[in-house]
Amino acid sequence: MKKESNPLPFDSFMNPGVGRYAKTYKESLETPDKFFEEAGFLLDWYSKWDKVLDKSKEPYYRWYVNGKLNLSYNALDRHSSGSRRNKAAFIWVNEKGDEKIVTYNGLYNRVNSFSRALLDMGIRKGDRIAIYLPMIIEEPVAMLAAARIGAVFTVIFSGFGAEAIAERVNDCGAKMIITADGGYRRGKFIPLKETVDRAIELTTTVETVIVVKHTNHETNMVEGRDYWYHDLLEVKNYVEPERMDSNDPLFILYTSGTTGKPKGVVHGTGGYGVWVTNTLKWAFDPKENDRWWCAADIGWITGHSYIVFAPLILGLTSILYEGSFDYPSPDQMWKIISYYEVDILYTSPTAIRALMKYGDEYPRSHDLSSLRVLGTVGEPINPAAWQWYYERIGSSQCPIVDTYWQTETGGFVVSPALGIGYGPLKPGSATLPLPGIDPVIMNSDGKEAKAGEKGLLYLKRPWPGLMLELNNADEKYRTMYFGNAKKYYFTGDYAIKDKDGFYWLLGRADEVLKISGHRIGTIEVEDALLSTGVIAEAGVFGKPHQIKGESIVSFVVLKSGVNLDSSVEAIKNKVRDNFGPLLIPDEIHIVGSLPKTRSGKIMRRIMKAVYQNQVPGDISTLESGASLEEIKESIEKFRKELKTVDLAHS
Ligand code: WT7
Repeated sequence: MKKESNPLPFDSFMNPGVGRYAKTYKESLETPDKFFEEAGFLLDWYSKWDKVLDKSKEPYYRWYVNGKLNLSYNALDRHSSGSRRNKAAFIWVNEKGDEKIVTYNGLYNRVNSFSRALLDMGIRKGDRIAIYLPMIIEEPVAMLAAARIGAVFTVIFSGFGAEAIAERVNDCGAKMIITADGGYRRGKFIPLKETVDRAIELTTTVETVIVVKHTNHETNMVEGRDYWYHDLLEVKNYVEPERMDSNDPLFILYTSGTTGKPKGVVHGTGGYGVWVTNTLKWAFDPKENDRWWCAADIGWITGHSYIVFAPLILGLTSILYEGSFDYPSPDQMWKIISYYEVDILYTSPTAIRALMKYGDEYPRSHDLSSLRVLGTVGEPINPAAWQWYYERIGSSQCPIVDTYWQTETGGFVVSPALGIGYGPLKPGSATLPLPGIDPVIMNSDGKEAKAGEKGLLYLKRPWPGLMLELNNADEKYRTMYFGNAKKYYFTGDYAIKDKDGFYWLLGRADEVLKISGHRIGTIEVEDALLSTGVIAEAGVFGKPHQIKGESIVSFVVLKSGVNLDSSVEAIKNKVRDNFGPLLIPDEIHIVGSLPKTRSGKIMRRIMKAVYQNQVPGDISTLESGASLEEIKESIEKFRKELKTVDLAHS
């Protein structure tokens, strides 16, 4: 059925200083306590907070101090007996078109039963548990059950390998892993349980493994350690939700930083819940009967905030899709939208660019008229992809909500805000800050950048979705994010603010790559390469890629005695086994040496410049006291090395 076309003034606007958005934004900065007091009431609390924001322990900001609530209660109990009792919470669908609809009441019952199972297995408030599942109903069930009893969960993306799982489990001390007998990707079976078995050999804290039967593939169940999920859920149960403190941790999510190991971002309960719920309303303005499709994986923050918590707290119906967007055919995404009459689609620029490449006939052959709003996330969207999305998918009727945010920010921070009356758009800009967000761009002189001048993006004040801390990395939390003179939150991104006040995000300013929107540290890839055992040294950097945004280029020096012929494929397979497909470099070039400083630091920036045939730029800052001659020599040597490898071939 055709929706009324959206009345927003797309091209005729250009005055963000007027209207409801401007008023709301202004209020949020001028009277923040009042503003966030009201925002807090979108959730149900057992007892109200004493104070909206406590800044006394900066940079550890605490919101809704002493407020008590439970997010599983907010997501389920308050819908499960009222008018949303029989409403679909999730419409799960897979690549084959199998479908499962779970109502609010059904989800409530499943979560209660699984909460009881967790308690019976000895899991208590504050315990950490890991979730390594494909995109199936049991994934939100496990997260909500943990939230119900106050266990802190960490979801590990199902594309990660054994070492990546072990690293995360060891960092947070998880007592349990919830997994499945397998998953599917592009029709191919993925042996999740076997990967967990290998990971556990590298850990010491895991006592139990709960296994969801999803594929019916055989798996070896270890007596006394492994339990079938379905065996634990026999009886219907009610579990009283824990009265969580607003600042009790809800989950830990690992993300890449500038150093080797992924960082465990800890999100709290009250501030996080309030932020994700309000931002979804502000940005997308969802309606009661909408079908919301956040086409991300639950293993990333996008899925945590905008597949699980915010949509359920708001009582929306979500599509939960297990599969790839172009499998079994290039129109898979359009088929799902048309069949389920999706109202709001939220996906990544990479997905848009990949689908765009297949050609217009695929979306054209489906009825996409149910769409009302389109969203993107994860990386800057180039104007060509924006235009295609707007014209070909949204029939020039749907606003594009380009949401800028990060794992650490909990929810959107810069985004168009349809729910507060603001719709002006510019293709490629995430537009304006959401309420409570006070951005500033600093240039290389440490001064506020002028309109149009590129600089580093900071957020001046705390907002409720800001992480509580980093797990086991206090020093990093303080120095990486708040180490600047003004103690502003540092995003790690370059940005420009234009003369209309619109923000243009320009990519990471640090050693973090964005591959298909996934955040990957260069050092993480180097560690994965070294884990293969055949590599002595590795240097990694990103290069622009038409579809993925960036691709991973690596130069490696093999250990002596390693057979050259089979090594590139063997290295890729080993990285896949240990860490998963995400960390496999697109290009692996074997060379005799890498350019390094005298203290042995690999010069990634220089490698990248030489590789791209550019002048290496300032090398004097590379090492204090080092001889520039030595560095130049090292660069020249690398330049010669490059001539010996076939760069077209990887
Ligand atoms: C980094 C954060 C936010 C959820 C998924 C990614 C980049 C994110 C945008 C956007 C330009 C964006 C930034 C940011 N990024 N959204 N709309 N426009 N860049 O979360 O994995 O923590 O990555 O993604 O570089 O710092 P993440």
